[in-house]
Amino acid sequence: MGVVALVPAAGRGERLGYGMPKALVPVDGVPLLVRAVRGLLASGRVRHVVIAAPPSDVDAVSTVTAPLAQAGGAVYVVAGGAERSDSVRLALTHALREIPDTSIVLVHDAARAFTPPSVVGAVVDAVAAGHPAVIPVLPVADTVKQVDSTGVVVATPDRAALRVVQTPQGFDARVLLRAHESGLHATDDAGLVERLGVPVVTVPGHPDAMKVTTKFDLAVAEALLAGSGG
Ligand code: CTP
Ligand code: MG
Repeated sequence: MGVVALVPAAGRGERLGYGMPKALVPVDGVPLLVRAVRGLLASGRVRHVVIAAPPSDVDAVSTVTAPLAQAGGAVYVVAGGAERSDSVRLALTHALREIPDTSIVLVHDAARAFTPPSVVGAVVDAVAAGHPAVIPVLPVADTVKQVDSTGVVVATPDRAALRVVQTPQGFDARVLLRAHESGLHATDDAGLVERLGVPVVTVPGHPDAMKVTTKFDLAVAEALLAGSGG
C-alpha cells in the first residue's frame, strides 16, 4: 500500500503578511512546512511527500525539506500553481508519474503545521479500510447563518449537523485523479470528490490541526508550542 502525501505550500501568505511565503514562516525557528511534513511522516503511514512550492522558491523549499526524507521514502518539490487546486493537481500528477504503487493520497495544507500524527493515521486507516474519501472534522462552536447578497439572514442551518473541515484529506488515488480531471470546482478536494457522487466519510479532527491564516493564528500556534514544551 503506497501512501503519498501531497502538501500544497505554494500560497503567498498574504493574510499573514509576514513578507515571505507562509510555508517558510518559522515558528520557534522551524518553518511551518517543515513542521507539517514532520507530522505526516511521524504518523508512520506516509512514505513519500510531494510539496507544491511557490515557483520562485522551489530551491529554498527543497533545501529545508530534503533532510526530512526517511529511509525508503522521498520528499519531492514541484512548482505550484495560481490556485490551491492547481497546486494539488500539479503535485498529484508528479506523484502518479514518479512514484510507482501510489494507491492512497493525502492532501495536507502546509499551513496546518501542528496536526497531530494521530489524525493523519486515522485518515489513512479509514481509506485503507475501503472508504474512497475521508476528511477530519470538528463540531461547529458558533451558530452559522446563511445570508443573501444584502446580508439579510435567509436560514439558520441546524448546527448539530454542521462540521468544520481540516486536512489531511485522504483519497483513493484514482478517485482524486478523476475529481481533478473532471473540470468541476470546489473549495476543497473532498468537495470535488463529493460532486462526482463519491461518498465522503468523516473522522474526528483535532483543534491543533487549525490552519495558520492570520497573525492571531500564529500567536495561537506559538502558545500551542509553548504549552507542549516544543
Ligand atoms: N496554496 C497553494 N497554492 C496556491 C494557494 C495556496 O499550494 N496557489 C496552499 C497554501 O500554501 C496553504 C494552503 O494551500 O498551505 C491553504 O491556503 P491558504 O491558507 O489560503 O494559504 P495562502 O494562500 O498562502 O494564504 P493567503 O490566502 O492569505 O495568501
Ligand atoms: Mg490562499
